[in-house]
Amino acid sequence: MNYFQQGSTNCATGVRIRQSNVLSLLSAMGIKTGSGRPSMQGPSKLRSAASSLLREHRWLPPISTLVCASAFVAAVIKGGPLFSVLGSGAALVFFSYLSGYAARAFRTINYPSLLNLPRRQYGEVWDALAATPELAKAAACGHGGEGALRRSAQAPVKNLIELVGVRLDDDILEFGCGVARIGLELAPRCRTWTGADLSANMLATAAERLPGLNNVRLVKLQQVGLDQLESSSFDLIYSTNMLAHLDMMDRWHYVKDAFRVLRLGGRLFIDNIDLESEEGWAAFARGTESWQEFERPPYNPTPSTGAELSAYASRAGFVQVRVHKRSPLVIVTAVKLTVA
Ligand SMILES: C[S@@+](CC[C@H](N)C(=O)[O-])C[C@H]1O[C@@H](n2cnc3c(N)ncnc32)[C@H](O)[C@@H]1O
Repeated sequence: MNYFQQGSTNCATGVRIRQSNVLSLLSAMGIKTGSGRPSMQGPSKLRSAASSLLREHRWLPPISTLVCASAFVAAVIKGGPLFSVLGSGAALVFFSYLSGYAARAFRTINYPSLLNLPRRQYGEVWDALAATPELAKAAACGHGGEGALRRSAQAPVKNLIELVGVRLDDDILEFGCGVARIGLELAPRCRTWTGADLSANMLATAAERLPGLNNVRLVKLQQVGLDQLESSSFDLIYSTNMLAHLDMMDRWHYVKDAFRVLRLGGRLFIDNIDLESEEGWAAFARGTESWQEFERPPYNPTPSTGAELSAYASRAGFVQVRVHKRSPLVIVTAVKLTVA
């Protein structure tokens, strides 16, 4: 989720700022998204006025381009004076550029600031972010499109395969599964894939994306943790692109529960933005600078260190706890070899 979208008003100050949140995480995870970090300097008046005008009259740039193209062709065919050929040509270049720029800008997704919700109301927060399937997909990868969503799954799937393996006889659980961005790719490679999440809207989009797969299951969590899942029922439990949105105690809660829910020999994979990596630190430092004066949205990502994540794994009872640095991510893998 780059430091991202435009235009919510900070409740505390009334200053118009750019939202940096969900997309900042995705950007840090190597997923390309929109433009830069949050800024406290509002757009210039001229730019703002132009933007409102274009948003209200979306037909303006393409129609202007068409008119200029016709004028240019007519001027060339009629052999009109040089200034009319050059003038219409220049106007054509300008409006073509404007059309492209506007088309890109209108694809920008505006997320609600949700400053009225505390972080730990995870279900409500993420239901609001995932109000439509397009928004739900964008909340997972920064783009509402199915193609981009699938491409964005490649890196995390590769990490899973390389670091913990994905086997045909595995029963796999993802907590914080979102729209099943990863599940859709893993389901054909394992025995069963289960996705658990607190957001009903995220799961509704996940269900739409998984038709025809008879080895998948979606679980709407009623509260933080894996209480609804049977002990010793999975071979691999992972969570990606999710822990950044949880407070530390809830991160620990999930790792502790994962130990119970895994079978003997089961593998764990968890990741977060690495505070100790250059990119992770840069994202954190930028966010700190930009958000210093403001209330932070409840979905603002917070990074981890390898020490933090491996402490959870060791304390839960896992062994072979390993820290993998894949900037901007830190990934911790571990194995359950004893019963609690
Ligand atoms: C950025 S999305 C990532 C989804 C998915 N892991 C992926 O990589 O596509 C974060 C997901 O975590 C879920 N989530 C947030 N807090 C949660 C919590 N405390 N328990 C379970 N899921 C949570 C959200 O509903 C959302 O689906």
